[in-house]
Amino acid sequence: MPVRVRSYGKINVGLRIGERRDSGYHELRTVYHTIALHDVIEVDVARGSGIEIRCRDPRVPRDQTNTCWRVAERVMAALKRRGRVSITIEKRLPVEGGLGAASSNAVAAMFGLERALRKSLSPSQRREIAAAVGSDLNLFLLGGAVLGIGRGEQVFPLPELPPLSCLLALPRVGVSTALAFAAWDARPRPQLTVAGASDKMAEFSHGLFDGLSSTVSGVPARGGNRAETLLLDLVRAGIENDFESVVFPEYPELREVKLVLESTGAGYTSLSGSGSTLYGLFASAEKARRARARLERQGVANRLTRTLGRAAYWKNLVIE
Ligand code: C5P
Repeated sequence: MPVRVRSYGKINVGLRIGERRDSGYHELRTVYHTIALHDVIEVDVARGSGIEIRCRDPRVPRDQTNTCWRVAERVMAALKRRGRVSITIEKRLPVEGGLGAASSNAVAAMFGLERALRKSLSPSQRREIAAAVGSDLNLFLLGGAVLGIGRGEQVFPLPELPPLSCLLALPRVGVSTALAFAAWDARPRPQLTVAGASDKMAEFSHGLFDGLSSTVSGVPARGGNRAETLLLDLVRAGIENDFESVVFPEYPELREVKLVLESTGAGYTSLSGSGSTLYGLFASAEKARRARARLERQGVANRLTRTLGRAAYWKNLVIE
């Protein structure tokens, strides 16, 4: 029987880029949050050998470069199983959109394959396979609000946050993360001293503390509900995505879309990952629906979704 798994997207709430390591990867600090919008991954194992990827979207590769393929061959080897693995990807998340679709698809394929084979990987096998395939996979082994450090693959669960309405603006361009990092390295800038670079990372920690502490402690500093408090605190803490400073000059239309989102009254707006998706967070679904109507009038392609906490992520992952 084929197994069907929801492959949820993520947004980045703040992203700090630090030093480039000898490995070529950059030090990162970011908060990932899963969202309800998802692709569906169907996994089947039959007699034979080999891996087959199916997807109607021509932009999704069907060969060994597909993240689902790369995970599947590692899972089969780790579990010492043989068989013909078919993975079908039903796309709803944008390709190269900054919502982590390729990474999430790969993790969903891992869970689906374990179920189809009726054999489980150990937690450390899952973690190692995910990190070997990409920097953004491990967050999907936790779901909900997740702190990402290292090159993004070292993940720590953060406390559950109040659910927020999330309006995604989906510009038609795709942004390559590797090229966005290359643009970051090439940007003109005052030479940062080592102390300067680590101050920047410490700032992120302070901002994160300031942004989340009243929501987590349940003692709102001001009036308003928990969702409103969270949004106000995120803005006050100055949590931002460093990719905006290199992606917006390259794609000025994305900055325009951010301004449109801001004008709709979103509590917090940002580019997700290296883009091209921008999002606005709202304390109420009603506010988000009104904002969506404004985006529609301006001709901006969009999707309305919500942030997905850890409990909901796990509860709904497998489609029974
Ligand atoms: O690990 P992943 O395949 O997602 O990374 C894609 C590319 O983005 C890498 O090849 C690297 O060039 C860049 N990257 C980086 N620093 C990170 C994560 C990714 O430079 N922390």
